Amino acid sequence: MATAAEHQTARSAPDQAAADAARTAAQQSAFDAAVAADERIEPRDWMPDAYRASLVRQIAQHAHSEIIGMQPEANWITRAPSLRRKAILMAKVQDEAGHGLYLYSAAETLGTSRDELLDKLHSGRQKYSSIFNYPTLTWADVGAIGWLVDGAAITNQVPLCRCSYGPYARAMVRVCKEESFHQRQGYESLLALSRGTEAQHAMAQDAVDRWWWPSLMMFGPPDDESSHSEQSMTWKIKRHSNDELRQRFVDICVPQAESLGLTLPDPDLVWNEERGQHDFGAIDWTEFWAVLKGNGPCNEQRITQRKSAHDEGAWVREAAAAFAAKHGEAKA
Ligand SMILES: [Fe+2]
Ligand SMILES: [Fe+2]
Repeated sequence: MATAAEHQTARSAPDQAAADAARTAAQQSAFDAAVAADERIEPRDWMPDAYRASLVRQIAQHAHSEIIGMQPEANWITRAPSLRRKAILMAKVQDEAGHGLYLYSAAETLGTSRDELLDKLHSGRQKYSSIFNYPTLTWADVGAIGWLVDGAAITNQVPLCRCSYGPYARAMVRVCKEESFHQRQGYESLLALSRGTEAQHAMAQDAVDRWWWPSLMMFGPPDDESSHSEQSMTWKIKRHSNDELRQRFVDICVPQAESLGLTLPDPDLVWNEERGQHDFGAIDWTEFWAVLKGNGPCNEQRITQRKSAHDEGAWVREAAAAFAAKHGEAKA
């Protein structure tokens, strides 16, 4: 009597192709139904190749942004104006390293190794958020980054807590809690400067002037030019469009800037009674694309520093691997 496996191999090629197609169609409809029902897709579940690739691209870019984002602020750790500010800043920069780790781990559940992703970052084949290619010129930039950059990150990331891919959604829950602390420490630091001496107030205003527009660019290109948005929304990776999130961020920031006693550098920023939202000025997308293509003020510096940190950390990775091997042997 033939076994089931023999029956399988005995199947003619067209039969096999038809069976494969039927199975894929069934898997696809189970996936679609799970997404439609707002269920989470988990690592062992079947998923379309394009969904997997899109998640890897987005999670990797997010992870890279977390670790490259440590650099501009780390620049001020040794020059923080007080022990309290230094302790806060160190904790914040460490949190960003942690965010990178959760996200690289989430990407690993999709079958992509951390080494591979770092390699793509170092060789420029994967991007990180362009905001981190701007320099931190004064201490007030640390406050402006916390208030605006972490603030924009939260606006982007809160809806990602409901992302259809389970490991990414769960990583975001914790990341958002920490980002909220980052945003508040930035706000509080700017408030202290704004209420300080005239020079301190001017320094806070200058930082906000420089970080405002790049923060608005963090939401990505306008909806009609955003190449990945529509598909991501169908898959429920993304829940809101770039322009929707940008608008939400502007509406949140305006009253906060008022309480800070600082001005947002946009003469066209005005409340629109009819829309129930703020109108704001045109974003300089030429600058955005230039920075994205590698021509921002700090692109080269960021990648050079990242690569040398990676090289200098080689001994730590080797030691950790050797320890793990030894531990494994002892257990065996
Ligand atoms: Fe972060
Ligand atoms: Fe942060």
